[in-house]
Amino acid sequence: MSEEKTKKPWGGRFKSELDPVVLKYTRSVHLDRRLAPYDLQGSRAHVRMLAAQGIVSSEDEKRILEGLKQIEEEIESGEFSYRDELEDIHMNIEHRLQEIVGEAGGRLHTGRSRNDQVSLDLRLFCLDTALRWRTQILEVHKALLERARELKGDLFPGWTHLQAAQPLSWGHYLLAFCEMLGRDNHRLTDYQKLHSRSPLGAGALTGSTLPLDPERSAQELGFSASFANSYDVVGDRDFLLELLQIASQLMIHLSRLAEDFIYLSSTAVHWIELPDSLCTGSSMMPQKKNLDVLELTRGKTASVLGHASAMAILLKGLPTSYHRDLQQDKEHLFSAVDDVGGTLEVIPLVIAGFQVDTERVQGALKQGFLMATDLAEYLVTRGSPFRVAHETVGKLVAYCLEKGLTLEELPLEKLQELAPECGPEVSEVLKPESFLRRRWHKGSSGRVSIEQQIVHWKEWIENLS
Ligand code: ARG
Repeated sequence: MSEEKTKKPWGGRFKSELDPVVLKYTRSVHLDRRLAPYDLQGSRAHVRMLAAQGIVSSEDEKRILEGLKQIEEEIESGEFSYRDELEDIHMNIEHRLQEIVGEAGGRLHTGRSRNDQVSLDLRLFCLDTALRWRTQILEVHKALLERARELKGDLFPGWTHLQAAQPLSWGHYLLAFCEMLGRDNHRLTDYQKLHSRSPLGAGALTGSTLPLDPERSAQELGFSASFANSYDVVGDRDFLLELLQIASQLMIHLSRLAEDFIYLSSTAVHWIELPDSLCTGSSMMPQKKNLDVLELTRGKTASVLGHASAMAILLKGLPTSYHRDLQQDKEHLFSAVDDVGGTLEVIPLVIAGFQVDTERVQGALKQGFLMATDLAEYLVTRGSPFRVAHETVGKLVAYCLEKGLTLEELPLEKLQELAPECGPEVSEVLKPESFLRRRWHKGSSGRVSIEQQIVHWKEWIENLS
């Protein structure tokens, strides 16, 4: 390694080389090289602003822009050699620029610090990620809507406490996830608005004595405004933590969906099955078909929650302004972003691919007294106070359990013994098929409400597509 190669931008003040152990400990280029496209984008905007303000000449601007172009090509083609001794991606690019364009390269960092630079790169990365997740969430919505349409009239035993509760349309069930992910999408949209602030020009912490125009570079980079306070914008990572918090919420939704599907396709329940192409086998037990993909969704959710929590811990006791602790933010950000992106890629396949085992579901719908609440509400329509109706139906259920009957199998006379207000139409009320017809209000799991939800999500998808 030549003296020239290891020269640091802060070399002037230092008398000895950095200890190699410290270098290994402090470097981040193995991670933050991922920020290269944003770093180049930021440098272009910065040098254009410097030239427009007369801080660098237009010849130097041109040389720098050409140098950055060459670096971009080297990075894209894999030719760029990242050097640990240059610590991070910012210094790697700047150093290479100086190699390519000579003295002019030394003017790029005018009025800029790595503190506003890294804050900029991360913001661009996070905003891009938010946009990409929204596109991916839209694909999940499309899959959910398609299956909801197909299965809107098919019921399965809905549960609370994982105990048979009331019949539930697969359509209504899937549309519930449209709501959950719709809110996640909303959070991301708000996020994009809130954090559309460029930090470029904030310098190390106080801005610069040079006549910078942060608004110009902000505009060029597509931000809605530049920073209002240089000290705030270089030191805070709330935008990064918030993305991980939104990711946490999103992953919790997907993890619960994964858990449902694992339960629903378990050997004991088996109301649904996933196609072979989405499942994996066992190295020892030849008969096995496992849902590793959804188990990993649950597992990766744990990782994302861990990263969000680590990021919060990183910030909570940190004095304001930039500290090197913040370099660790990349480990949490990149890892979480990969977990979320990968999960959003597989979930539409799972939703599109699951098949309902109609025979087993039909059998299950006959058990568990799923229509008991509808019967109690029928008694309410015949004048009974709900608490009395509840008690009466409870007694009927107890009787059925004793005799090994379902509510549907109870003769009318037996029903009338305990609930004299029952008329012959009660047999209709007790059929699970009547379930979808007898619910009218907005948001219910009735046919009309399901149709309304389908229209809503169809329009929502069309608007965003
Ligand atoms: N690699 C550093 C990081 O990611 C860049 C900023 C370093 N700034 C500094 N003043 N040491 O945090």
